[in-house]
Amino acid sequence: MIPVITVDGPSGTGKGTLTALLGERLGWHCLDSGALYRVLGLAADRAGVDLEDAEGLAALAAGLELRFVERRVLLAGEDVSDLIRTEQAGMAASRAAAHGPVRTALLEWQRRMAREPGLVADGRDMGTVVFPQAPLKVFLDASPEVRAERRYKQLKEKGLDASLPDLIVDIRERDQRDRNRAVAPLRPATDAVTLDSTAMSIQEVLDRVLEEVRRVF
Ligand code: C5P
Repeated sequence: MIPVITVDGPSGTGKGTLTALLGERLGWHCLDSGALYRVLGLAADRAGVDLEDAEGLAALAAGLELRFVERRVLLAGEDVSDLIRTEQAGMAASRAAAHGPVRTALLEWQRRMAREPGLVADGRDMGTVVFPQAPLKVFLDASPEVRAERRYKQLKEKGLDASLPDLIVDIRERDQRDRNRAVAPLRPATDAVTLDSTAMSIQEVLDRVLEEVRRVF
């Protein structure tokens, strides 16, 4: 079986950075599953599909022409990497992701990303739904304030507009929806290693996870 490491948790905990670093260290593929839902939000906006229209969104999801090329996200050949990184896109993704049919439509696509020599997959339900057999599951958490600050820095570095108080409100709203939705709610798998990164640097988190990698693989 192809080895998989899952990294789940709310936004701003450092999941994406940890996943990229692990992928580099191990020479494994990476899956940023949040990008799928973000692209779907963008595609829905362009196609005029309402974010409450579960069946319309699922049909759109099933036909998404999506590719990841060297950390860039291509939708039907167009580089949409920057367009999908705004807070607005995150919120649209979270609304689209709450529908069961949408998640089902994207399930096999995500599973096909598990290829030799291995995969590090980040998201909300990687360990609970998409790769329940993964031998190593990490759940990263951190306080909403610290996560909002990290997000603020990221957005500023990209030259995007951001307000810290607005980000705290957005993060709480997104958490609330992701944790309380009926399908694939955000929660740690029962066999996940949970880490609180509030007071940890990314290097400390990476070192801690690499210890687990050595133990498990
Ligand atoms: O991780 P990211 O912030 O890019 O994800 C955007 C949104 O996509 C999340 O708030 C969540 O609602 C949704 N998502 C999900 N399942 C995943 C990854 C992301 O529901 N595996």
